[in-house]
Amino acid sequence: MNSKFHGTLKVPGDKSITHRALMFGALSEGTTRVHHPLPSEDTRRTMECMRALGAEVEEKQEEWVVTSPGARHLHAPGKRLYTGNSGTTTRLLTGLIAGLGLSAEMEGDESIAKRPMDRIQRPLAEMGADISLKDDKFPPIVIRPAELSPISYTMPMASAQVKSAILLAALYTEGTTVIHEPSPSRNHTEIMLKQFGADVSAENGVIRLEGGNELSPSDVTVPGDISSAAFPIVLAVLKPGSSISIENVSLNDTRSGILDVLEMMGADVTVEQTSHIGEALGTVHASYTPHLKGFEISGGMIPRLIDEIPILALLAAFSSEACTIRDADELRYKETDRIRAVIDELSKFGIRFTEYDDGFTVHPGQVSIEENTETKGYNDHRIIMMLIISSIVMDTPIEIDDISAIDISYPGFMEDLETLRKDA
Ligand code: S3P
Repeated sequence: MNSKFHGTLKVPGDKSITHRALMFGALSEGTTRVHHPLPSEDTRRTMECMRALGAEVEEKQEEWVVTSPGARHLHAPGKRLYTGNSGTTTRLLTGLIAGLGLSAEMEGDESIAKRPMDRIQRPLAEMGADISLKDDKFPPIVIRPAELSPISYTMPMASAQVKSAILLAALYTEGTTVIHEPSPSRNHTEIMLKQFGADVSAENGVIRLEGGNELSPSDVTVPGDISSAAFPIVLAVLKPGSSISIENVSLNDTRSGILDVLEMMGADVTVEQTSHIGEALGTVHASYTPHLKGFEISGGMIPRLIDEIPILALLAAFSSEACTIRDADELRYKETDRIRAVIDELSKFGIRFTEYDDGFTVHPGQVSIEENTETKGYNDHRIIMMLIISSIVMDTPIEIDDISAIDISYPGFMEDLETLRKDA
């Protein structure tokens, strides 16, 4: 049935910010209230890990309440920590536990077992941490107590997870840790650390943290996740007759690259910023746009939209010009190799790609798929949601092997789409 999509939506809370609020709450003595958290599989892994370290987390409607005895009173977990599918939990927690001088073992699901952890182990070992990995690269991660010292570290890639693991580890060292970023990655850790009372500054790609200060609890209001909003936004732009608004969504500049690309393409998308205290947020309006221009993106733009590249690939297929994404080799190390997954699955829609080691070009052409074609979601939430949007845009039902991983980041995704659907 050919539908239009209309109405106003609030997407679930930002995943990156929810993880950090739970962690900083656990490090602060007292009570931290997290309003509008993301209640997803990934963030619940962080919640369970914080409980295992000795913090209490109470789940209330629309609010999670973290009560902690403070960083100095957290303890080694009694059992191996399980981080599920969550790279953010795994990497940030390694820094946090090493920084507290505790011992722990950590492992996740099949996808986490294949994700590189040497990128955090290297700087943390430079600080003095004792961390072993399987084959020097992969989980399970074994952390043994050690005293850490501050470092000056130049990151080989723009990664907020690596940067945050170092900052968490540096919190209880005596002295200044300095991190140089090749290009700006999401800065939620820096913003929230400041809010919790840490002595941290960030300027021109250099982040400095003065260790040795205790964090104090602070309430966090989590904006909607722009990485989740990206799916209904692209749907509205591609589906004739559609027009939607998404309220209270994060507009943090380190995350809003997709809005810049939509502008480059000439899409009918407008943004109203409603607040800029700490994390910027506002409303995004998106409407059907019949003619979309091409784009070429690379370099510093990539970390600002790294999680949106699967859905951008679909958007690109509807442009009248070629669209190219380069310098995105990090995509090969996500929940799955997202360059491969995007090309393999969207090729089933007749979309033509040129593949590079670090990205792809999407060529203009006819997009169509046969009814009930079998596609694969690779247990990757963002690939699955991209396939669902593709099927709706094409108005053609497809088979997806397993869609349960949607709950990793966007519980209620299907229901939200139904709320917006207006039958033609
Ligand atoms: C995240 C950082 C990014 C992003 C991931 C969440 C975070 O990963 O892709 O979904 O919360 O810090 P990298 O740090 O590996 O780029």
